[in-house]
Amino acid sequence: MQRPKVLVTQAIPEEGLAILRQEAEVQVNEKEGPLSREELLAALCDKDGVLAMLADILDREAMDAAPHLRVISNYAVGINNIDVPEATRRGIVVTNTPGVLTEATADLAWALLMAVARRIVEADAYVRAGKFTGWAPKLLLGGEVNGKVLGIVGLGRIGEAVARRARGFNMRVLYYQRTRRSPEEEARLGVEYRPLHDLLREADFVSLHVPLTPETRYLIGARELALMKPTAYLINTARGPVVDEAALVEALRARRIAGAGLDVFEHEPALTPGLADLENVVLAPHIGSATYETRAKMAVLAANDLLAALRGERPQHIVNPEVLGG
Ligand code: NAP
Ligand code: GLV
Ligand code: GLV
Repeated sequence: MQRPKVLVTQAIPEEGLAILRQEAEVQVNEKEGPLSREELLAALCDKDGVLAMLADILDREAMDAAPHLRVISNYAVGINNIDVPEATRRGIVVTNTPGVLTEATADLAWALLMAVARRIVEADAYVRAGKFTGWAPKLLLGGEVNGKVLGIVGLGRIGEAVARRARGFNMRVLYYQRTRRSPEEEARLGVEYRPLHDLLREADFVSLHVPLTPETRYLIGARELALMKPTAYLINTARGPVVDEAALVEALRARRIAGAGLDVFEHEPALTPGLADLENVVLAPHIGSATYETRAKMAVLAANDLLAALRGERPQHIVNPEVLGG
């Protein structure tokens, strides 16, 4: 029997590629950065499976270009780059990588929170520039983290891991999402439910952990930013378009909020003009899951799930189980 053909749109850790090569003929994009749209569509034409990155838009047009496609294995937990209903209509299995990246992403949210509150990036630049002439009472003062109020928007896997870390900082943790957790779970996690606008008014730190969907696009706009305390910080490791980035730049510039820590951007990889000129923002290039350990686990998971789908077996993390017929 002919081996199935698989496209890997950017070179993932070798552990994953080795698994794929045991059963499939594998084409890997070895160039730096993503495939262009034209390259992606051309490479998909004879493929049975694609191991995709979060910047690869897999919409109707891409699926039209891939008449043999049976599985899209997304090397990410977020699946906003895929038209899942369209894939389902065509019987294409969609899988993602939840769980294995939860702790690394929660760590990164905390790294941004600490960095922006304690002005670590400004401090580093200050020392490197030779400006450090000695300890001073008012040098680079920032916001205290200990004992403050953390507001988590989206208490899912990552939101919960962020909440757990807040215990060590003696924080009160508020959360908002559509479905309220049971009183037992709220007690176990040490979290209190708030409607979004109340959370925004009360929190000293707001951390976003919702998926990007039509409902969450611009969940945080000018109106929501205006509700936040002028001393509060916004952390976004979810998806850029959850925040109206132009409104955020305006709020940061006018100091209507104290600062922001961002791992994701509305027009990624482009930045809204003015964002990079602000001192009260810490910017990261979408590295939430970027640890050696986590990326290796994602590679193994994504590869195994892709092959499982090609074998007609049930992948561990299938997004559209209805394609398997029950
Ligand atoms: P998850 O376990 O599914 O959690 C998502 C949470 O968001 C759920 O608790 C859900 O609760 C809530 N939510 C969904 N829709 C909502 C809405 N319309 N309004 C309010 N809350 C809503 O997902 P996860 O594994 O924690 O991942 C979350 C997201 O993080 C991913 O989708 C991805 O975009 C992002 N991410 C980014 C990085 C990075 O590198 N920066 C890494 C990993 C993940 P309800 O359904 O009850 O509302
Ligand atoms: C990364 O952003 C992911 O969704 O896994
Ligand atoms: C600061 O370094 C202190 O000792 O308080």
